[in-house]
Amino acid sequence: MIRFEVFTLFPDIFLPYLESGILHRARKKGLVAINLHNIRDWTTDRHHVTDDLPYGGGGGMVMKPEPIFHAIESVLGDPHGCPVILLTPQGRKFDQAVAADLAGVPFDEPVTPEHQIGLLCGRYEGIDERVRQHLVSDEISIGDYVLSGGELAALVLIDAVTRLIPGALGDPDGASKDSHASGLLEHPHYTRPPEFRGWSVPEILLSGDHARIARWRREQSLLRTWLRRPDLLHGAHLSDEDHRYLNNLGDATEE
Ligand code: ADE
Repeated sequence: MIRFEVFTLFPDIFLPYLESGILHRARKKGLVAINLHNIRDWTTDRHHVTDDLPYGGGGGMVMKPEPIFHAIESVLGDPHGCPVILLTPQGRKFDQAVAADLAGVPFDEPVTPEHQIGLLCGRYEGIDERVRQHLVSDEISIGDYVLSGGELAALVLIDAVTRLIPGALGDPDGASKDSHASGLLEHPHYTRPPEFRGWSVPEILLSGDHARIARWRREQSLLRTWLRRPDLLHGAHLSDEDHRYLNNLGDATEE
């Protein structure tokens, strides 16, 4: 089981998402636990204050260090024996490889991970720098844009990591087929009816020829990645046949 210990000022934000779909099922199966801790519960003053004015002036409020240290040390121990990740736009960029690393599941390997991860969600304009320096072990950003807090980013991380735990998806191969799992974007999908408003499902998918279907899907995946995210091709695992297909695409557009 992977245990996420989430430290936030807004635990309620998490509930509907954690109670739906794959996360709900993974929690029920005991593959993942998500424990929510309200930082406000670790304040010691009468008004439960978690933020204060920035030293040096300027706008905005800064999250105070004491309740954050108190919360994390109470729940995870001092010193804590697990990573504590601050969600912030200043962190290293989150992607499928980081998710796999946090899951502790190498791609395609059926091991059941067993560990704990602390997630700290920032709010207000910032967080006292001493939290960064002396409490958190890692900082992660989910993209180059600024959210109102780290809660959505924490949910993104929890979701992406949970999908990688063996047994979390209905399809045992599900996660290895996802876009990005192989370093490529996924091929197109179709379901019934075979014709809808005059638009037909590609003939090959109805052919029953599994080898040709697999090759078609692979080529669609390569084509999509080449068109939309050529940067991903550098890190993808490609066969000689894949290289030949991509070279042909290049040649075709140069003519
Ligand atoms: N908090 C605010 N913006 C964020 C981002 N882009 N990633 C992670 N945490 C954030």
